[in-house]
Amino acid sequence: MKKDTPVVHHLKDYQTPQFDIVSVFLEFDLKPENTNVTNVMQVKNLNHASLMQLDGEDLELKSILIDGVDITQKCEQTAETLQIPTAGLDTFELNITTSVDPQGNTALEGLYRTSGNYCTQCEAEGFRKITYFLDRPDVLTLFTTKIIADKADNSVLLSNGNLIESGELENNRHYAVWQDPFKKPCYLFALVAGNLECVQDTYRTLDNRDIDLRIYVEPKNIDKCDHAMASLIKSMKWDEERFGLIYDLDIYMIVAVDDFNMGAMENKGLNVFNSKFVLAKPETATDVDYEGIEAVIGHEYFHNWTGNRVTCRDWFQLTLKEGLTVFRDQEFTADMLSPAVKRIEDVKRLRSNQFPEDAGPMSHPIQPQSYIEMNNFYTMTVYEKGAEVVRLYHSLLGEDGFRKGMDLYFERHDGQAVTVEDFRNAMADANNVDLVQMHQWYLQSGTPVLSVKTEYDSVTKKLIVNCSQNIPKLADKFPPLLMPIKIALYSDDGNILPLHPYEGDMEKIVVKGHEAILKLSHKSESFVFEKIEVEPVVSLLRGFSAPVILEYDQSNEDLAKLVTFDSDSFVRWESIQTLALKEITRNIAQLESGQALELSNEFTTAFEGVLKDSSLDNALRALALTLPEMTYIGEQYQQVNVDAVYHVHRWLKIQLATKYEGLFLEQYLQLNKLNEEYHYQKTDIANRKLKNVCLQYLMLLPHQIKLGEQQFNHSQNMTDVLAALDSLSHTDSLEREACLESFYRKWKDDALVLDKWFALQAASHHIHSLAHVKELVKHPDFVYTNPNRVRSVLGVFGRLNMLGFHQPDGEGYHFLAEQIMKLDAINPQVSARIVAPFTHWQHFDGERQTLMKKALQSILDNDNLSKDTYEIVSKSLS
Ligand code: PHE
Ligand code: ZN
Repeated sequence: MKKDTPVVHHLKDYQTPQFDIVSVFLEFDLKPENTNVTNVMQVKNLNHASLMQLDGEDLELKSILIDGVDITQKCEQTAETLQIPTAGLDTFELNITTSVDPQGNTALEGLYRTSGNYCTQCEAEGFRKITYFLDRPDVLTLFTTKIIADKADNSVLLSNGNLIESGELENNRHYAVWQDPFKKPCYLFALVAGNLECVQDTYRTLDNRDIDLRIYVEPKNIDKCDHAMASLIKSMKWDEERFGLIYDLDIYMIVAVDDFNMGAMENKGLNVFNSKFVLAKPETATDVDYEGIEAVIGHEYFHNWTGNRVTCRDWFQLTLKEGLTVFRDQEFTADMLSPAVKRIEDVKRLRSNQFPEDAGPMSHPIQPQSYIEMNNFYTMTVYEKGAEVVRLYHSLLGEDGFRKGMDLYFERHDGQAVTVEDFRNAMADANNVDLVQMHQWYLQSGTPVLSVKTEYDSVTKKLIVNCSQNIPKLADKFPPLLMPIKIALYSDDGNILPLHPYEGDMEKIVVKGHEAILKLSHKSESFVFEKIEVEPVVSLLRGFSAPVILEYDQSNEDLAKLVTFDSDSFVRWESIQTLALKEITRNIAQLESGQALELSNEFTTAFEGVLKDSSLDNALRALALTLPEMTYIGEQYQQVNVDAVYHVHRWLKIQLATKYEGLFLEQYLQLNKLNEEYHYQKTDIANRKLKNVCLQYLMLLPHQIKLGEQQFNHSQNMTDVLAALDSLSHTDSLEREACLESFYRKWKDDALVLDKWFALQAASHHIHSLAHVKELVKHPDFVYTNPNRVRSVLGVFGRLNMLGFHQPDGEGYHFLAEQIMKLDAINPQVSARIVAPFTHWQHFDGERQTLMKKALQSILDNDNLSKDTYEIVSKSLS
């Protein structure tokens, strides 16, 4: 059947469901190419409707019965729906049998096979690829699931809830029946079957129940589950302590699969994870992997309350569960490791990924108003900007006020499918405040620009902070946002100054200790502090208290001072980043006007200070010594000169490496003596981080290449091995080839480690990198059906390989476009994400714009393009 033409779904069209599916009994007779699904629903016709329209895609219909009577012939089927006559029926039993082909399902949505096992993915609209249903999150149902399968290939049969029955059948088959006592929308349904083994532990809850914890993996991976299990236990404890939220079923299962479109999925009681976010041991996983596992395990666990117990009314409310759950996982990671480091890392991610998204053609508010393919809206904006907006409530209400709001949210909405307004109302009502203005953050797209000017009057001893906000693309056509701006004032020598707001400003300035929050609620507004005895050094937007672009013209002297003494780690880091950014943009201008590049003392003094300051946390030092990412530098320009950014960025790193070779080496050698044995522990992570930043600089000097080779050969943990190989991969040396070759030989059978080998080469700044990447997709270990492998080559290439992707002749664009078309026929969701780098075409120079548009057009000209890829490409060309 031909696919219907793409439909646009609008938030304004929302209507409550006409039918309630009170309960459903599903029976799966699992066979690789032909799985029968029997679906028995107890239905209530809420409004005496004469027609029930169910969602279903790629299903082979066998039969439809109402209250036992075959009505198959009376129903109408289209490519995406099934219409059932229901006139005169108030409650009825609907029995639908269909069959699907899990083996042929390479889109990895619905029921599919991975490494010979069965698994499902239903969010957002994948349940309709399993059976006909009301596939929308506001239809909550009680699920019972019977799974029947061959014993030899499926020792384990899993679904949501509790196992209530199991047994043997004829022909070497067996079955299991699972029942979920909690009502849920069908996007939280899951089924897993296959030959898996599990590690087990128990968690004793705050209310003294023992929860059976299980992580299921392929037998070969059973030695890589300890960190994931430890992370799960920490998450459960943290959510009890911080939010008073206790787990509700008797069993919690996690399954790791190799083929998965996203990071992981919070299905009730049965999370399915990309194995990348479960499997780790020191020899195979880096610190970044360990941190990712802890964060994603936490994230999915936290969804049990924010997402599952309280779910979304419709998909336009996605940020209700995702923004909130990302905020929760950020706070969790901060508490487990370092709040300062976590905040800086999150701001970096937001700036290099979400800001560009919000400046490009796919820009959308955290509550989108329309979509063609929902899968395209699992974005940095909905997740990360959404989390920033939740953080605004936290900043405005404080920890206690935020907790009161959360408590009221659960008290009111447990078991319901709700909206972002319901969340805001709970926050407001619990604290007796008006938060209506906060809604603007859900409606507006584009990153707001916050401009600040400060005036100090030495006679009246007043400091006036003038703030104004703007969203450039909207000019004046938007109502103002409510922004909490955190501020502190310092004397020249680093003493923090007491704050006395002017009486008339008491309402909008909240002082807490030596810090204040300016509550900006108008387009332009002034805030006045009195009794400031000396002209202060201003520490502004502390902790990055609002997701904005800050324009504040601070002198280099003040920035340098903040680098040395600000007690707010974010501002401290931000100040040296600003100095570095000024250094880079000034030199880009030099280069463009044909003048010599030069290093300024202002920047190097600050840099040297950090390099020598052993009192500072090593992780923060590592962050401060890392130059702004090239994407972030590019963000400073309307149209970016790719070659100049690359050239100046590299030039500055080499200058610093040369000037401070001695200091880098000393620091490197000192840290390299530590950490014999790998521990995932704060100070060890920080030491490895700083050591490898030093190595990165040193490796830019040809005579230090041996250092990387030594580290590569002698380290036992993947963090250090990979850092060395990464530095080597950008060189043009024999050592590079030898190390890449030996890494491949050692790890060719470990998919996750091999992904790293592919990714390094796809990101390499080697002069022949495009040719290398073309070879990589022909490599016998490259497969289009595995999303991790595809992302590690094609995703990394488009996102990080500035030189290769943007090669002036357009060959990089041409190559990636061809790959995308090939991939789109196999896995549309992944293909639509690989397209992203093309969508920023307006950000590049004229010739490149033409070439990028041409590549996009060649994709759009494809007859069989998926709606996923169609939506992204068509929107970015219009
Ligand atoms: N809901 C998942 C999460 O954020 C993400 C996801 C979306 C996974 C869609 C699969 C498909 O935790
Ligand atoms: Zn999530």
